[in-house]
Amino acid sequence: MSGSACDRPIGVFDSGVGGLTVVRALMERLPLESIVYFGDTARVPYGVKSVATIEHFTGQITEFLLQREVKMLIIACNTMAAVAADVVRRLAGEVPVLDVIEAGARAAVASTSSRRIGVIGTPTTINSNAYARRMHELDPSLRVYSQACPLFVPLVEEGWLDHPVTRLTAQEYLRPVLAEEIDSLVLGCTHYPLLKPLLRDVAGPGVRMIDSALTTAEFAAERLQRENLLAAGSRRAAYRYVVTDVPLRFQTIGERFLGRSLGVVERVDW
Ligand code: DGL
Repeated sequence: MSGSACDRPIGVFDSGVGGLTVVRALMERLPLESIVYFGDTARVPYGVKSVATIEHFTGQITEFLLQREVKMLIIACNTMAAVAADVVRRLAGEVPVLDVIEAGARAAVASTSSRRIGVIGTPTTINSNAYARRMHELDPSLRVYSQACPLFVPLVEEGWLDHPVTRLTAQEYLRPVLAEEIDSLVLGCTHYPLLKPLLRDVAGPGVRMIDSALTTAEFAAERLQRENLLAAGSRRAAYRYVVTDVPLRFQTIGERFLGRSLGVVERVDW
């Protein structure tokens, strides 16, 4: 791509607000990169929807971002990455596509020494078995123990990051995976990095938390470098946020996920 192509934004997308954990990691790792973020706030949550529905929605979002001439696509939503990554890759053509499952799976395989890994995520992500499949491709001798945690998304959006109800819920969800003596736990949902301190407490010091937001940012940096697509830094990074519902809730909750103010949020009417 030409010099100006490097200055194009990265397209990051999610079912709603959660993918802002990935945006936050990207802003820290790649401060010169501009980002267009798409959150499908009118149709969230995806984590309890069928594969066909998620594929359809994901295709629409991909086309939208490709029209905005992004230089790379990042699937920040674990649920979309689990069941619709192929749809994105097919539509994207030459545009590189990264996803949180690839990044999280690799990081978990690199982290484990006991070869016993836990994965938590939405019901659709866990039912797809996408994390376990990818990790087994990387190392067939691994033991992977998965657990759906459907209550975590609403608890995080409620801001109950260190609340007794969340702690009890986490103890209940994690009990079966912890019983398998895992040494690494993949936080396989956009919302879970916000629960890291609480999950660390519940899981104890012997379990490493694999935060796919951080690994995805690292992957993005490597890939941009490899493809000669790093922003030259001739302009300040610009951040745009596009949502499908009225932006108020996204704005309020989003600032917690992003750790800074969001600025302008645009709404598309589909
Ligand atoms: N973004 C979703 C994920 O990472 C969580 C929210 C939802 O269910 O849509 O799986």
